[in-house]
Amino acid sequence: MKGSEYHEITAYQRSGLASGGRIRGGTPSFFKTYPTLPFYQLPKTPELPSCSLGDVLTGATTLASNELNLSLLSIFFALTYGITATDRTGIYSFRAVPSAGALYPCEVYAWLGGFRDLPHGLYHYNVARHGLEQIATVDSNDAFFEAWITAIPYRSAWKYRDRAFRYVLLDSGHIFEQALVSAKVSGITSKFKEANWTGTYGCRSETAICQRLAVDPHHERPVARVAFAPLPETAKIDYLTDKKELLSASAPANGADYGPVILNAINGTVGEVTIPIAPDISEKLPSLLFQNNAVQVILNRRSRRNFIKGSISADYFESYPKAFSRALPIKGLTVYFVVERVDNYDEGVYELWFDGTRPNLKLTGKGMFMSQLADACLHQMWVSHASFAIVVLLNTEELEKTYGNAGYRVGMLCVGRIGQLCYLLSEALGLGCCGVGAFYDYEVTRVIGLHGGMSAYVLAVGPVKKQVR
Ligand SMILES: Cc1cc2nc3c(=O)[nH]c(=O)nc-3n(C[C@H](O)[C@H](O)[C@H](O)COP(=O)(O)O)c2cc1C
Repeated sequence: MKGSEYHEITAYQRSGLASGGRIRGGTPSFFKTYPTLPFYQLPKTPELPSCSLGDVLTGATTLASNELNLSLLSIFFALTYGITATDRTGIYSFRAVPSAGALYPCEVYAWLGGFRDLPHGLYHYNVARHGLEQIATVDSNDAFFEAWITAIPYRSAWKYRDRAFRYVLLDSGHIFEQALVSAKVSGITSKFKEANWTGTYGCRSETAICQRLAVDPHHERPVARVAFAPLPETAKIDYLTDKKELLSASAPANGADYGPVILNAINGTVGEVTIPIAPDISEKLPSLLFQNNAVQVILNRRSRRNFIKGSISADYFESYPKAFSRALPIKGLTVYFVVERVDNYDEGVYELWFDGTRPNLKLTGKGMFMSQLADACLHQMWVSHASFAIVVLLNTEELEKTYGNAGYRVGMLCVGRIGQLCYLLSEALGLGCCGVGAFYDYEVTRVIGLHGGMSAYVLAVGPVKKQVR
């Protein structure tokens, strides 16, 4: 099934949510673990770097060129996918990135070579224990650092049914962007030549990558790769235990399945697109972004919905399109800003377009649309109290024409990256931000003033009552 078809059949409409409640009988575990593999505890309190988010985004960081060690890896994994908070009951935890329904369908792996006190090998990040489980050894003397993001779709499908693959891709895009930021904050990137950095959405053969990562393709699929120094192609790999045992770790719940629609969508959107990763932003950003420590910003990031209908400065507002240039432009994806309370900006819908890497906003519809948008977001009326909202639309035909079958995934991963940038900027600017994946698809496009296009994501931004910690 093509991505366009999948998106269309999983659209929410008032006449029915095409969902049908949770899948019975199989509550998934949200933490993958390999109990019998060698475990490397990552330091819980590594010395933290002092750069700001502004430094990271503009490439102005002057990071200490530390040796490659477990402390750097601790910062990288904690800031990419680590637990940053637990709820009052202590049962549920939250991570460095947001996730639709807090279901965290993704897993993170890395091929690591040249790190002190860590044998060259393939590792899985054990989120619950903040440590690395060694899956394989790699016979090589090189230094390498190649991270993979995979997804266990059932974790999300359990609640969201067929619509879950959308959320899996958006979540993965959030992690992808966050991995780029964390690698920079940790200083790991300073050890590898920029010319060799590659980001990849998807992969050429999922079967081959599943085999290499030793994950079970029935339950878990690779989604993206971030490589600052790729694993050498000829390196000899030895798995530390029986492949069958390794594969069994991918199963989310007894006999649980995510169904044919997601399976067809996954199989119909396989493909590989390599992108230049994280170009630095050359536009001027607000000075506040250079004042807060990036680590604190990431650790404090949460979804905040308690907006107070306050206005924000044009300077803060304009930092969003500037930051989005890291993930854009790509053909087939359009970003709109629905503005209601931004100094010096008329209320209305603005389309983002790029002149090279320079962002511009064009007013395409004047008026107050936030209440209408909130209503289209399944009546999540807190959206209407935000200063502005970001709406991202896909043109799947264009995406598929440009990137082939993988076009849909490319688009959704980019949208997730924009989402993560939006969360990070908001936290650093003292604003609230919350992503919205639950909406009546065609009503959202109508708010923008369009009859075509597919709604991919909505994010609301504005001043909030108080910080929820
Ligand atoms: C793709 C995506 C879709 C989301 N959709 C909604 C939504 O429709 N409504 C909502 O209130 N929160 C939504 N969220 C926010 C999640 O509920 C939130 O990230 C999760 O509960 C974890 O909390 P945290 O972001 O504070 O760490 C969404 C987040 C993501 C990444």
